[in-house]
Amino acid sequence: MDVQLNSPVPVHSFDEWRAAARALLERQVAPEAVRWLTASDVPAVPAAPLLAAPDVRISRTLMHMLQTAACCRTPNRWAFLYRVLWRWQHGERAVLAPQDADGARLRAMVAAVQRELDAMLVGIRFRERRPDAGAPRFVAWCEPGHEVLPQLARHFAARMRRVTWMIATPEASVMWDGATLHSTGALLRGPFPAETGGWLGVFSPARLDAELIDPSAAPPASPDAPATLLACRRCALWQNATQPVPGAGPARARIMLVGEQPGDQEDLAGQPFVGPAGKLLGSALAQAGLERRAIYLTNAVKHFKWEARGKRRMHKTPAQREIEACAYWLERELALVQPRVVVALGNTALKALSGNPRAALKQMLGTPVQHQGRWIVAVYHPAYVLRVPGDEARARAFAVLADGLREAKRLAS
Ligand code: URA
Repeated sequence: MDVQLNSPVPVHSFDEWRAAARALLERQVAPEAVRWLTASDVPAVPAAPLLAAPDVRISRTLMHMLQTAACCRTPNRWAFLYRVLWRWQHGERAVLAPQDADGARLRAMVAAVQRELDAMLVGIRFRERRPDAGAPRFVAWCEPGHEVLPQLARHFAARMRRVTWMIATPEASVMWDGATLHSTGALLRGPFPAETGGWLGVFSPARLDAELIDPSAAPPASPDAPATLLACRRCALWQNATQPVPGAGPARARIMLVGEQPGDQEDLAGQPFVGPAGKLLGSALAQAGLERRAIYLTNAVKHFKWEARGKRRMHKTPAQREIEACAYWLERELALVQPRVVVALGNTALKALSGNPRAALKQMLGTPVQHQGRWIVAVYHPAYVLRVPGDEARARAFAVLADGLREAKRLAS
């Protein structure tokens, strides 16, 4: 972004703002000296070459908050976000605190966007079109109050995998061709007409979770059961998490791996085991001769439980009542996937799978047991293996994990 001192800064997107903000910070331009122009003030122009990026390092949490708040349709948002970044970069960590005026506003913006996103994710309705070469199979129309289309798009791209769809809003549309997201301006004038010959049916995310695992999945039996994981309020953990992280993997995997709960990176990505523990798990699976894509990966608890330490979000072990609240989802996954072997990665998973709050991992390591018609194999959690002090002891813990996975492979075949 070629930023001229004393000239207004045009911004059309978060990426443009970020590039401009970095350049301004590098030149020590104070927030009061910048005039930001928004999309409605200036037409979009091809992106100018970036200045060499200055050394602006911010925490993942702050980046996530800025990115989320940037979707909030509120006046002067770019100027406000730059002020937050400026204060943070100048050592004012209180800028994120709820007691700080800017911190409170930032949090309110993030919460407004998150609420909107939650409502959209639960409420959006996809209509299935008659097959037509090149056209997306499902189409949805929505009118979000904030600019949440990119997040919605990323969510459904991960969710619907190879199934093609388009989401249209009054300002923009995004299409998923099964591999890549394509954004355009407003394509449709929506809302779509009532159900007529052109549409095959309506697909709501309330059914999406279940149907993507198994098309014959029944809706939740009890009337007070949440319709989707996204709407889950069975315990309080949803309040501080970015999103729930559902399990992922083949609908009928023979082996299911159950971890404890999503970590910082999983919470942001919405997928299990994508952080450091996931990398180590990948190596252990490879060592055991198992393909990660053949396995269903999930967690005993679906929301990230954490506490702030400085600017970092530190993992906190879930309480028994949270494990019990979330057992509802684990049981649904077990019923749908019907794995022959379930691997408990660590103590929390073992408690959840055995239904025994006093289950002790050490006593079960290396000894598969039959439980409710399937094998349970207990192994160390990969995050524990990462933390074991000393190379030799760590290698031994890794071997226990890999051996358990090898045993699971044997039992599943
Ligand atoms: N640890 C877990 O238990 N699960 C994850 O998904 C990531 C880290």
